[in-house]
Amino acid sequence: MSDTLTSPLPLAGGVGGGNALAANTDFAGKGLPSPSPSSKREGSKGDFPGLAGDWAYLDTAATAQKPQAVIDAIARAYGPDYATVHRGVYERSATMTLRFEEARARVAAFIGAASPYEIVFTRGATEGINLVAQSWGQRLQPGDRILLSALEHHSNIVPWQLLRDRTGIEIDVAPLTDDGRIDEAALVAMIGPRTRLVAIAHVSNVLGSVVDIATIAAAAHAQGALLLVDGCQAAPRLALDMQALGADFYVFSGHKLYGPTGIGVLWGRAELLASMPPWQGGGAMIETVSFLSTTYAPPPQRFEAGTPHIAGAIGLAAAIDYVEGIGLAAIHAHETTLVAAAREALGRINSVRLFGPADSAGILSFAIEGVHPHDIGTILDESGVAIRAGHHCAQPLMAVLGVPATARASFGIYNDLSDVERLAAGIARVTRIFGVEA
Ligand SMILES: Cc1ncc(COP(=O)(O)O)c(C=O)c1O
Repeated sequence: MSDTLTSPLPLAGGVGGGNALAANTDFAGKGLPSPSPSSKREGSKGDFPGLAGDWAYLDTAATAQKPQAVIDAIARAYGPDYATVHRGVYERSATMTLRFEEARARVAAFIGAASPYEIVFTRGATEGINLVAQSWGQRLQPGDRILLSALEHHSNIVPWQLLRDRTGIEIDVAPLTDDGRIDEAALVAMIGPRTRLVAIAHVSNVLGSVVDIATIAAAAHAQGALLLVDGCQAAPRLALDMQALGADFYVFSGHKLYGPTGIGVLWGRAELLASMPPWQGGGAMIETVSFLSTTYAPPPQRFEAGTPHIAGAIGLAAAIDYVEGIGLAAIHAHETTLVAAAREALGRINSVRLFGPADSAGILSFAIEGVHPHDIGTILDESGVAIRAGHHCAQPLMAVLGVPATARASFGIYNDLSDVERLAAGIARVTRIFGVEA
């Protein structure tokens, strides 16, 4: 697949008054917004075996392709390095334990956690939210309230509904602005004396809109509430610093961060995790067990019952190395340019409706009047362009947008402007096939 810009889209104007495509943003080394001096150039399509062939992969918000470095790290973990962790007295197991715990420390450094003890390995963001709902949620009383927003992924809605069914809490939902952001002023005004938790997405998986976490954390804390952030779409594209953000819980999934599936992270403030009961019982999470009583290990082990996803944690650390080798600031700038170019190209097609704010992070949802998003996805697939079509696990948001589904193009570190060109050409073909306005 070519990663050069041989035939730039004929765009006029551009986002912010310039031609978005005039800014060459190819990560393979042609005009990438300068990474920090310490970072090296990575992110070219050649690093990703999953991108081989003539394929424009625009579904990174669903799951990211894996660089060879991550695949190699997983293969080593399951191959010559393989052994269990925490229990073995032999050297291989001790070494593996070190590598597993190094991975925890790597995650802690990546997100600016105060210590590796604040990092709980989970299966993913979904499990992290369920963990908080089932463990921390046990302290809630009937009449306590949890505040969500209208753009949340189902994984940040349903666990709270299950908790509501068990405890009698109430769920409030903050509205969105017309351009598809969480209405921060409205959300802050909805935090009341019975609000125990605000739980929101840092970056919307449908609209790409970014919320100001620090402001909301301050407002929640002023009312004695905590803040849980679903960072699934933020971790792969925004530099994170738990100290600066001021949240209390933060979750994300490894597979959207160019790492393995089946591994994710729950970060929680140390004192908060220490105050929470276990949510699953089994090996590795105990201090002592008898048939009369059991005592529990301190966090994070308290929340990691059973043999952990050893290779997953090691693969995640390799993914973090890869991503940091490029630099989050450079990744964010790169994806912002690609989204701007896509907005501009698709915005010129009369029957296309774009969703979300102009400065959305890495993600662009759209619809074509008179064409079902599944048809858009199928026709694009014929041209080797992979997008997502559906409700994106955000049915309440679809209701707000007034559509059953959207088409969604999402970008990653390996995409370039040739992918935007192919998307625009594919959409033009859709309009021709369906005879709608071009
Ligand atoms: C914003 C957001 N939250 C949560 C999730 C759930 O992530 P996972 O399925 O990896 O647990 C996703 C995945 O699409 C997401 O985009």
